[in-house]
Amino acid sequence: MLRPGAGNPATRPELTPQLEAAVRHHIDAALQTLRAAKAEFPSVAFANSFGAEDMVLTDLILAHGLGIDMFSLDTGRLPPETYTLMADVEARYSTRLAVFFPDSAEVEAYVREHGVNAFYGSVDLRKACCRVRKVEPLRRALAGRQAWITGLRAAQSATRTALALREHDAAFGIDKFNPLAEWSEAEVWAYIRIHNVPYNALHDQFYPSIGCAPCTRAIAVGEDIRAGRWWWEDASLKECGLHVKTS
Ligand code: ADX
Ligand code: SF4
Repeated sequence: MLRPGAGNPATRPELTPQLEAAVRHHIDAALQTLRAAKAEFPSVAFANSFGAEDMVLTDLILAHGLGIDMFSLDTGRLPPETYTLMADVEARYSTRLAVFFPDSAEVEAYVREHGVNAFYGSVDLRKACCRVRKVEPLRRALAGRQAWITGLRAAQSATRTALALREHDAAFGIDKFNPLAEWSEAEVWAYIRIHNVPYNALHDQFYPSIGCAPCTRAIAVGEDIRAGRWWWEDASLKECGLHVKTS
């Protein structure tokens, strides 16, 4: 595994005493949110994409034995580095991942009608692909659950600035917890470094945000951290339907 920060300034925060203190404070707050979520909603589950933020939550949940269920959505188009990390997580935490796949008939129908890489054709076709490969499996993963947990951060993008630690997710009709809402990118990477948490090798190749392989690319120094996601689209449209703002 690559050392944190190899090749990418974004993953190489200088560990100052101030940063370490901020991380400690945020760890306590995140643990409090996670424990409160589990106490109020025993069936709460964490949606794990294996991005840097989600690796912090993975470590908090598993290292502290919080007993919170975890699941992941395998769209069928994830980069190989993500599968490598998934296997690393299974080995490191002696766990077996719960992975949800898209409905094969729906994928076949979409691809037959529109083509294998149809998502480049229009925003509507891109959203239709996300619906089939991500949103419908998420709906199944959340069925019967009272709440879910994500690794969203407010500072990630223009579409997430108003993010709360806890909100009602009207799209799924359940509560949603975002324990890292107030974390900075530097704090996420400081946590990963301090606790020696495994992470996606693509982060060291200028991929701060990672989704499906054909819809994610490296960013240039100074670009927005989500600039590499659906890079051909307008920034205000860059959500895939997992996280719908309702207020
Ligand atoms: S996305 O909407 O643009 O794809 P992003 O990659 O920023 O989302 O991830 C935000 C949060 O959505 C993650 O922290 C995670 O909770 C959830 N999420 C995104 N992709 C997946 C996935 N493939 N499996 C499980 N959860 C996911
Ligand atoms: Fe399809 Fe791209 Fe959305 Fe993945 S991110 S589900 S490949 S459109």
